[in-house]
Amino acid sequence: MNNFISVDDVQNLDALIKKALMYKANPFADILLGTNKRIGLLFLNPSMRTRLSTQIAAQNLGMEPIVFNVDKDGWALEFEEEAIMSGNTVEHVKDAAPIMGKYFDILCIRTFPSLKNKEDDYSELYIKQFIKYAGIPVVSLESATLHPLQSLTDIITIHEELNGHRSSVIGHPKIVLTWAPHVKPLPQCVANSFAQWVNAWGNADFVIAHPEDYDLDEKFTKGATIIHDQDEALKNADFVYVKNWSTYNDYGKIYCNDPEWMMTNEKLKLTNNAKVMHCLPVRRNVELSDEVLDSANSIVTQQAGNRVWAAQAVLSEILRSGK
Ligand code: CP
Repeated sequence: MNNFISVDDVQNLDALIKKALMYKANPFADILLGTNKRIGLLFLNPSMRTRLSTQIAAQNLGMEPIVFNVDKDGWALEFEEEAIMSGNTVEHVKDAAPIMGKYFDILCIRTFPSLKNKEDDYSELYIKQFIKYAGIPVVSLESATLHPLQSLTDIITIHEELNGHRSSVIGHPKIVLTWAPHVKPLPQCVANSFAQWVNAWGNADFVIAHPEDYDLDEKFTKGATIIHDQDEALKNADFVYVKNWSTYNDYGKIYCNDPEWMMTNEKLKLTNNAKVMHCLPVRRNVELSDEVLDSANSIVTQQAGNRVWAAQAVLSEILRSGK
């Protein structure tokens, strides 16, 4: 593996899941793999789980992680080619990224979408410019349209449950990704990415439920059943992934914030006693009720804990490719 931007960078997903679970059982199995290697974690946007889990993963492999909060401490970066930089941007990525390439062995970047222009966001200009100019492997810590480390974690968690608490599921589990209300427009990254990874994994009866106008990009959802009736979608679900996202066609807006779409215990009764997932952070009693989040059905803490092992498996693959 050279870069890690989407599931398309993964040669063998089952092997990657296995590797992550190996690290969960034995975190320091490869403590010497990253000796004398440095990893840069660049944040153009806030984070808790991604920042901490990736640092821990790197340290478990013997690497030295350095976090740089570009949004707070760095110069404002320009990403457009041939830009006339007479506005607010101070340094071009063309100048900054090669320097990072000298300082680090792997560069990880978080860059959210603007949610103003769909074509711009879906072009993934920011992360592509880092790949073009850094000259070292680049890992997405969530980009404009995808969140691959989160999705790998999600698949690992489902796999883990199917081999543990949910081992009674016969055949493919029913996995439902359901839209939930939120107070502000959010990116489509987590939902797009979850759809892309579940489809690539291929071991699920996969349903996406959302109100009309909240489509996701078909290139990620193709293969899933898409319906606009949440109750219908939830019937007999084994896993329910709850997430808000903003509108896709008339891009980046909130049309409907129907509280009826919040996951509650009442809705959970429609499912096969489903395990409930969310990438976090979560708006309690807006997206998911307290009663669900605080119940035995919720696996959100297990899921966030698994972020370490997903990141460790990916960094391990990249380190081995560079040897
Ligand atoms: N799920 C996730 O990416 O969390 P953070 O934004 O806290 O990193």
